[in-house]
Amino acid sequence: MYSIQYLALLAAQVLLTAGTPVSLRNGCNELNHTVTVNTTSGVFAPYIDDAFPSVASFPDIAYAQNPTGSLRFAPPVRARPDPNGRVTYATDLPLGCFQYIQTALTGTVSFYSEKSTLFQRGDSANTTEDCLRLSIFAPKAAVERAASSTVEASEDDKNGLPVVVWIHGGGFSFGGTNVPYQLSPSWVERSREHIVVQVQYRLNLLGQPNAAGLVAPHSASGQNENLNFGLLDQRLAVEWVRDNIASFGGDPDRITLWGQSAGAYTADGYLFAWPQNPIIKGVIANSGNAIAIPAYLADATNHTLFSTVAERLGCGGLGPAEELACMRAVPASDIKDYIQGSVGETSAASDGLVLGTVIDNVTLFSDYPGRISAQDAGLYASHIPLLTSTTTDEGTAIVPYEFSGSATATELPSELAGIADGFTLNLECTALQDIKLRASVGATTYQFLYGGNFSDISPVPWLGAYHTADLPMVFGTYGLEGPSTAFEQQVSHRMQDLYLEFIKDPSEGLKRSGWPESTGKLEDPNIMAFAVDDKLQQLASANHWNWGQGCA
Ligand SMILES: *[C@@H]1O[C@H](CO)[C@@H](O)[C@H](O)[C@H]1NC(C)=O
Ligand SMILES: *[C@@H]1O[C@H](CO)[C@@H](O)[C@H](O)[C@H]1NC(C)=O
Ligand SMILES: *[C@@H]1O[C@H](CO)[C@@H](O)[C@H](O)[C@H]1NC(C)=O
Ligand SMILES: *[C@@H]1O[C@H](CO)[C@@H](O)[C@H](O)[C@H]1NC(C)=O
Ligand SMILES: *[C@@H]1O[C@H](CO)[C@@H](O)[C@H](O)[C@H]1NC(C)=O
Ligand SMILES: *[C@@H]1O[C@H](CO)[C@@H](O)[C@H](O)[C@H]1NC(C)=O
Repeated sequence: MYSIQYLALLAAQVLLTAGTPVSLRNGCNELNHTVTVNTTSGVFAPYIDDAFPSVASFPDIAYAQNPTGSLRFAPPVRARPDPNGRVTYATDLPLGCFQYIQTALTGTVSFYSEKSTLFQRGDSANTTEDCLRLSIFAPKAAVERAASSTVEASEDDKNGLPVVVWIHGGGFSFGGTNVPYQLSPSWVERSREHIVVQVQYRLNLLGQPNAAGLVAPHSASGQNENLNFGLLDQRLAVEWVRDNIASFGGDPDRITLWGQSAGAYTADGYLFAWPQNPIIKGVIANSGNAIAIPAYLADATNHTLFSTVAERLGCGGLGPAEELACMRAVPASDIKDYIQGSVGETSAASDGLVLGTVIDNVTLFSDYPGRISAQDAGLYASHIPLLTSTTTDEGTAIVPYEFSGSATATELPSELAGIADGFTLNLECTALQDIKLRASVGATTYQFLYGGNFSDISPVPWLGAYHTADLPMVFGTYGLEGPSTAFEQQVSHRMQDLYLEFIKDPSEGLKRSGWPESTGKLEDPNIMAFAVDDKLQQLASANHWNWGQGCA
């Protein structure tokens, strides 16, 4: 099993948000006077980017109140509309949540250099505590239709478009919406048949503080309040989508939750956290699954790391309740400076801080396999279909980008190969266990393997289809960092089309496209492979793909 360091590393890789903010500000705004959308968070005008003329963007909507002061280290609280009914005209993506890039990751493909950081980078520097925002990208025609609709909302739902809610990765420590390879307007422009909602949630210290003062008997309520707040943020965002998406032309009865890496852990984990009222109808989990969650967990009874941070921020030597109160009063800018400071400064990087999520029995649990096997609708939503995947070379994302001969090597040196293979195998074996258990209780699962090796995404030979390399295919953002090929475009279009089939009808959509359900049997030919061996798509068995071999 791999340590939390490796997994966080991986996640960080996925989420890397870095240097240049992506602005959506290059367009005209012809809709902004004619159409507005009234939501539980207020009234919003769409923004039309010249590059995506069929897409109405609502880049920055608060779904929760600013989680600061007494709302810091507390469950999210629904955003309220502006009392004067003022219209918000947002043209920029929201700033990300406070985040930090562990030094262990600085040498990997995403963090190696100016050039290579471009592959995953967004804006990880310019962040804010007031980060509980979502971004909506919807076909312009659907928004116009919903705005002019005179029929009852429930009638209108019948024509609503399917909706995907995207949960980014990043080891619960990094990431945000503003990552160029992980933005959906291009996909929505091409399909015009679905809506994508991209969600930010609290990370690291603000997302999973694991403070003694949150644990009964120290907690204010006398209950265990030591919750994973970032995961509660994700749930509130899903509730927001349920309550508001019809006003954007979406169908609240066809919401799919989609995540990658840490976001895939929680998208799959959502089936355990909210089985009674899941809201969603499907889950897509790229390179992550609930069975892998334990590797990310911190000890919920050990509050040392929170106290270390408290001491750094002037709240040292206090009892649990006083420590928590003191930390709620620390200015956001001081927390940001600590979280995002460099090695050598008083910072999370200097302290090597890695804050795992905790078992809180609300968002995360022990014994995921047992919860599936129990066949108890109160423990696991087995009726919700899952589309799950891995890439052929997951682990090349977590090793140093530069080693002797790295520019031309076609394989990793053995000491690095061991690390990369362990990472890959962990994802394969946990996914396999998830699929097998789901098959045993009659849950519908589809599986794919991504093997694209395109020079604009994988610039050196040994990288292959590393962890996150599949995302530009689905988002349609390939080609940002170099010329793309006709085959790359074909792969992207095919993957987008099949994702859409799943999103439209999670249970039957892929079956109708000739993609059978997964059984978890290594000899059954039901793993779809995209861009493996230069073929657009092929169905074959795990044994054929040399996948999941050597798992217990
Ligand atoms: C609204 O659209 C007009 C053009 O029709 C533009 O001049 C104006 O800047 C836009 N307002 C905002 C807030 O985007
Ligand atoms: C938005 O909806 C709320 C609740 O239905 C309503 O009270 C409010 O007047 C609406 N605002 C606008 C600008 O239509
Ligand atoms: C950070 O974002 C704010 C708000 O968009 C902007 O005014 C500011 O210029 C940005 N700062 C940097 C360094 O990008
Ligand atoms: C608590 O966590 C700290 C920091 O991770 C670690 O050094 C310490 O050994 C842990 N204590 C116990 C009792 O596990
Ligand atoms: C979660 O539930 C388990 C099993 O019932 C229990 O042992 C554990 O103490 C609970 N943890 C919390 C934080 O409530
Ligand atoms: C990726 O493609 C390059 C260039 O064709 C090739 O040299 C390399 O071996 C491939 N890498 C993998 C992991 O397939």
